[in-house]
Amino acid sequence: MNPVRFGLCGMGGYAKIIGKLLIRMAGSDPQNVRFVSVAEPDASRFTAESALLSSHGVAIHASLDEMLKASESDPGRCGLDVVWLPVPIHLHRRFTEQVLSAGMAVMCEKPPAGTIQDLLAMQQASRDACKPLLFGFQDMYDPMTLRLKRLILSGAIGAVQRASVWAAWPRDAKYFGRNDWAGALRRGGEWIMDSPAMNALAHPINLLLYLMGGLETQSAEPITVESELYRANAIENFDTVIARASLTTGASILIALTHACRQTLGSFATLHGSEGRIDIDEKRVLVRRGDGTVLLDEQRQDKYADMVHAVVNTVRGQPAPAAVADASTAAAHLRLVHGMSLASVVHEFQNTRLNIVTSSDGYPLRVIEDIESVMKACAEQHKLAHELSSVPWSQRPGMVNVQNLQRFDGPLTTVKA
Ligand SMILES: NC(=O)c1ccc[n+]([C@@H]2O[C@H](COP(=O)([O-])OP(=O)(O)OC[C@H]3O[C@@H](n4cnc5c(N)ncnc54)[C@H](O)[C@@H]3O)[C@@H](O)[C@H]2O)c1
Repeated sequence: MNPVRFGLCGMGGYAKIIGKLLIRMAGSDPQNVRFVSVAEPDASRFTAESALLSSHGVAIHASLDEMLKASESDPGRCGLDVVWLPVPIHLHRRFTEQVLSAGMAVMCEKPPAGTIQDLLAMQQASRDACKPLLFGFQDMYDPMTLRLKRLILSGAIGAVQRASVWAAWPRDAKYFGRNDWAGALRRGGEWIMDSPAMNALAHPINLLLYLMGGLETQSAEPITVESELYRANAIENFDTVIARASLTTGASILIALTHACRQTLGSFATLHGSEGRIDIDEKRVLVRRGDGTVLLDEQRQDKYADMVHAVVNTVRGQPAPAAVADASTAAAHLRLVHGMSLASVVHEFQNTRLNIVTSSDGYPLRVIEDIESVMKACAEQHKLAHELSSVPWSQRPGMVNVQNLQRFDGPLTTVKA
């Protein structure tokens, strides 16, 4: 069987990490992975990356158009089977549709798109082209995820009643200034809705929704979403969120995430069943029954190689050895994040309530004092900040129903304006 031929868009940001991953995989597993080409409109900014790619025989093109044309006109040298898209969110749909209609599979980075209607259109484009469309939620491809799902479906922790995830991940002025879309609502006429829940800390939300879904291929879908949204940074969307959603399975999920913090903590994800619980952090997975019996206690492994193998298998039409992130599972995450923005407006923190400190990279970092313990308390008590007695800045949450949401036309602020 021929190796699966990969193309990649971008050389900077996360694309740099994916480029190194594909170089590594093509070197260690040449029977299955061949890294053919990269499309980068501004390669002069990336001299070291260009040199590294060229030294591994990877062709560099000035645009996705050019890369796809080369694949068509010179299939022996430049032919592609799949294109990886770690590009800005507002390009996800357009690039995905372009690659699919050129006859290749797509591995699009998470989040799938800025809106549910874009995701549904991408899913339809994949069906029309008869080519697979996967998303870069790497936790999904970890074989541990499918093991956990099967354990849950077998009743190991009883009926799942509630889940929570909390995380504090400091993001400084460098992060928000790294491109023209960080923290943005919309660019070039496309919704982006960048936030910790949509982007940097989307993984554990997507993972928990998948683990709570009633079938191996299904995520639990949100029904109602309540949210409190805050912004400490000078961005358009929120950098801090506490939200709670009821789910189609009868369970509920509490989400507490912030970028306006001093410490990096988490993510900490917990599933509570009627007969046990599962705790998942960045390093470890622990499954315990109510009587304390440990059913599973394992360190988490590097999942990037598993993700590439899953792409290879999917492109070949073979079953992947693990769960995969596809449009139907990813839709649950997107509906929930839309619900956050439809339920409440974003409350801006007054400077008097903020501390501006220097991050470990030497950039200004805006901090809500003691936010880490608020996030933890919300998750542990399954409460919004407004329901805790000790959070003077908390605001009353709004609520919205997002069951079967097919369209998102902007957040509550925009709808009101
Ligand atoms: N899976 C993960 O853990 C993970 C981590 C970080 C980012 N991401 C995702 O990756 C995507 C990119 O995020 P980022 O933070 O690296 O963004 P970024 O804006 O910092 O970088 C975007 C990349 O896309 C390239 N690019 C821009 N326009 C292009 C075009 N027209 N053609 C080809 N390439 C183009 C840029 O040169 C750059 O390499 C987002 O969807 C993000 O959510 C995923």
